[in-house]
Amino acid sequence: MAKDDTPPPHAAPDWTIPQDWQSYSRQEHDMWDRLFARQADMLPGRVVPEFMEGLEVLRMTKQGIPDFDELNERLTKATGWQVVAVPGLVPDEMFFEHLANRCFVAGRFIRTPEQFDYLQEPDIFHDVFGHVPLLVHPVYADYMQAYGEGGLRAARLGMIKELARLYWYTVEFGLVRDGAALKLYGAGIVSSYGESLFALDDPSPHRIAFDLQRVMRTNYRIDDYQQNYFVIDSFEDLLRQTRDADFGPIYEQLRDLPPVEVADLLPSDMVLHKGTQAYAKAKAAA
Ligand SMILES: [Fe+2]
Repeated sequence: MAKDDTPPPHAAPDWTIPQDWQSYSRQEHDMWDRLFARQADMLPGRVVPEFMEGLEVLRMTKQGIPDFDELNERLTKATGWQVVAVPGLVPDEMFFEHLANRCFVAGRFIRTPEQFDYLQEPDIFHDVFGHVPLLVHPVYADYMQAYGEGGLRAARLGMIKELARLYWYTVEFGLVRDGAALKLYGAGIVSSYGESLFALDDPSPHRIAFDLQRVMRTNYRIDDYQQNYFVIDSFEDLLRQTRDADFGPIYEQLRDLPPVEVADLLPSDMVLHKGTQAYAKAKAAA
């Protein structure tokens, strides 16, 4: 999140900037197309089908970086959401305010060829390819709005860190049950070639059934693949647990509980797959 609450001079008071789609270069559109082709080839069967449907509904299969004006015509018609450009990370409360108003903020820049496989700061490919297709899904669309409303509440209660963990382990790195199998839906996974394979196939990470309080206690890493993933039953269940939960008592309990470290398991966890943590251990030893 941005450290300063004052928007840069070229941004509006709500931090938005024009996407200025005309100014993208051929190389920038090509970068989008290369990233898109690699993910669109690999994701079917791994990602929730609603994600692939979202790409179709929004005609994101069209070549080049999407023009937000065109994208928004279809997105707003579907669920009332829109995408707006921002210069980079925005302050927490501004971010929540936008979500609560069904507005998804996206970076307008795209990564360089050297960052093809990984970058830490979200670019337009992560933000738009990763996040926007599911905003066509009515229940997921409601969840994102509810999250923004919950964020504004958490800010008043001083519990932003706890609520940010919920975003991380659902919106960014969530998995969902599909019968006996698992599917991807988190944007941080589906916009990453490596993590789209790792999150489902690799024996290293723990895969744990979603529990709201557990998730809000759990630290996460921003520098590499996750060491645990949380698995929801369905978008309906996620929405029900977050929109209908009175977070006040949960926050009160969390104030007295220590955070859970990334790879730790608790006796109360419903562990679907106990990870070997081999990947993280090898990285730490290197
Ligand atoms: Fe993201």
